[in-house]
Amino acid sequence: MEARRLQGRVALVTGAASGLGYACSRRYAEEGAVVIGFDLQACADWDEIARAVAGSHLLIGDVCDLAATEAAVAEAVRAHGRLDVLLTAAGIAAGGPVHALPVEEWDRVQSVNLKGTFLSIKAALPAMMRQRSGSIITVASVEGIEGSEGGSSYNASKGGVILLTKNVAMDYGRLGVRANCICPGFIETPLFESVFGNELLAPYRERIREQHKLGRFGRPEEIAGAAFFLASDDSSFVTGQVLVVDGGYTAGHRFGFTELMGLE
Ligand code: NAI
Repeated sequence: MEARRLQGRVALVTGAASGLGYACSRRYAEEGAVVIGFDLQACADWDEIARAVAGSHLLIGDVCDLAATEAAVAEAVRAHGRLDVLLTAAGIAAGGPVHALPVEEWDRVQSVNLKGTFLSIKAALPAMMRQRSGSIITVASVEGIEGSEGGSSYNASKGGVILLTKNVAMDYGRLGVRANCICPGFIETPLFESVFGNELLAPYRERIREQHKLGRFGRPEEIAGAAFFLASDDSSFVTGQVLVVDGGYTAGHRFGFTELMGLE
């Protein structure tokens, strides 16, 4: 039987009630970690995670509120004496071309995706600095690496997350704290469905799927695999990196020559 590789570790996961954050929480618990989830909303499926590892539970809070993120870290440290992993998966999808994008929308996206990541890291660092260890894993996107039509605020927020992560790796590496960023391709989650489920965007879904060289969208569990690697000792010499998990989305441009070559 395989050993549970995160036994004795304590992880804080933001955006834990849905999609990628939920899948990562579940994987961490399967590997034996105590998982403190943090989200705006509750989630019935969390009962299973709470049952799997004693001490695991989901807290309700907003990543835009420093006091709330600090309270979550304080609770983890009070109950379990440490914080080994921070995974920041809380995020929202919104955007539009700059000339048409209301300033309030720009602010809302930066506030959750970029400032929320900053506040979560800010809350977690003192505990990790004290114990001189920790793995911070942020979630950006392929849209933080490349532009995409109408991306504007979303892409800018995710590009910011990537550089923030690299800077955290630079500043805290000597204290034993690692920081890495996962950039997913398009993964089938409630967020994805909220964007592509509507009539206006549904026709574009197929074109976006085609950009993934594996010919399909990703599954949340496939991001959880990367999140597990970055939380585990297998990545003990990995910091300041962007781990792209995108089914080949950013590998290059596709014009259909593969079909011409009979490689379907
Ligand atoms: P999701 O909508 O399924 O889950 C996001 C969770 O974050 C929700 O439970 C939501 O309540 C929570 N949340 C939102 N704002 C919050 C706040 N202010 N405070 C606390 N919690 C908050 O979305 P999904 O797809 O799981 O996305 C997770 C992250 O991955 C996001 O940052 C997203 O931008 C990123 N991502 C997602 C991709 C996809 O295709 N699904 C692709 C690339 C990146």
